[in-house]
Amino acid sequence: MKLDDDALLQHAREASLKAYSAYSEFPVGAALVTEDGRIFTGCNIENASYGLTICAERVAIFSAVAAGARRIRRMAVSCPRGDRTQPNTLVPCGACRQVIAEFAAEDLVVLVDGVGPISFGMLLPTPFRLR
Ligand code: THU
Repeated sequence: MKLDDDALLQHAREASLKAYSAYSEFPVGAALVTEDGRIFTGCNIENASYGLTICAERVAIFSAVAAGARRIRRMAVSCPRGDRTQPNTLVPCGACRQVIAEFAAEDLVVLVDGVGPISFGMLLPTPFRLR
């Protein structure tokens, strides 16, 4: 793993410390690098009306897009309360995969803390697209 990848994972871990996970007590952090080299982070933000909860990945992506970015070059996700013996507890959810697909660079790799680098094409081989 490249040193840059370690730094990006560290950003994701730090972002998880900001999570508002009052109901699930399952903090998540995400960090991404845009095509122009900017780093954006996000954490999950829950709500008493559970369905309004937003995942860490989408907070990071929406923040990047709102700042003018359009392509994600690399991404890291950290679920410190996930179970390293059960990788399904560490990977991005399906909804976030669809959102990532909208902005993913062609060769995007997602660094999953506790699992390793996974090519985005493996995580979501056939995203829905309108064009
Ligand atoms: N969560 C994320 O932030 N990202 C994911 O990809 C999976 C789930 C959050 C949502 C909720 O706040 C908590 O983890 C438990 O589902």
